[in-house]
Amino acid sequence: MGDIAHDEVSFYSNAEDYWKEVPATVDGMLGGYGSISIIDINGSKDFLRKFLGVKHFKMSSSSGSNNTEGEGKTGTRCALDCGAGIGRITKRLLLPLFSTVDLVDVTQEFLDKAKIHLGEDSKRVGNYFCSGLQDFAPENGHYDVIWIQWVIGHLTDEHLVKFLQRCQKALRPNGLIVIKDNVSYEGVVPDEVDSSICRDLAIVRSLVAKAGLRIIHEEQQMNFPKEIYQVHTLALR
Ligand SMILES: C[S@@+](CC[C@H](N)C(=O)[O-])C[C@H]1O[C@@H](n2cnc3c(N)ncnc32)[C@H](O)[C@@H]1O
Repeated sequence: MGDIAHDEVSFYSNAEDYWKEVPATVDGMLGGYGSISIIDINGSKDFLRKFLGVKHFKMSSSSGSNNTEGEGKTGTRCALDCGAGIGRITKRLLLPLFSTVDLVDVTQEFLDKAKIHLGEDSKRVGNYFCSGLQDFAPENGHYDVIWIQWVIGHLTDEHLVKFLQRCQKALRPNGLIVIKDNVSYEGVVPDEVDSSICRDLAIVRSLVAKAGLRIIHEEQQMNFPKEIYQVHTLALR
């Protein structure tokens, strides 16, 4: 028992120590793959477009309904960027679509940099929360979209399930939780360097189900370099 508790403490503290040493740049956020940020953001825009009321996006006339499975459209008032880092996603994906965005990250230095990185648009950031997601409770009924990208590998299974449950409570009507992350080919692959794990898709799906959430849409991000993990995006309610 004692060892498990100790392992969990060091799992989190080693990750915090790792990120404190990472440069507060787009390249730093993406482990040296800064050049894929545009592909990532464009893929995420296309993904979100399926759920939001038409706003900044132009829909082609042949695309039919922009809504998945005929469910209600997701609002565009407020989004939460989880494990936001310097606000790479907030800047290019969320602020262009939502009236206000909140950021949460465990690394204060990244949130400080985000204020600069976001420029003028930082005026539309509501809150910069410095917290581990394992300890963070988003405000109930507050968010249209909760975006969780490249950070679930820093949470234990139990904490991920509980965090997703808190996120579900934090959604506004027709709100959406989006997980976008690396998936392993099979099983759980630990990364000793940044103190994270990479789960396979079946495990991620089972944790989502354990949290009582439903996967309403799922896609693989295409056009990423061959040598990195596959990246999948899951929309949950
Ligand atoms: C790979 S970066 C991704 C940043 C951002 N999501 C993006 O895609 O540009 C991982 C981020 O997760 C943050 N992080 C690591 N462990 C965390 C935790 N337990 N809770 C919240 N944030 C965490 C790090 O500080 C870092 O900003």
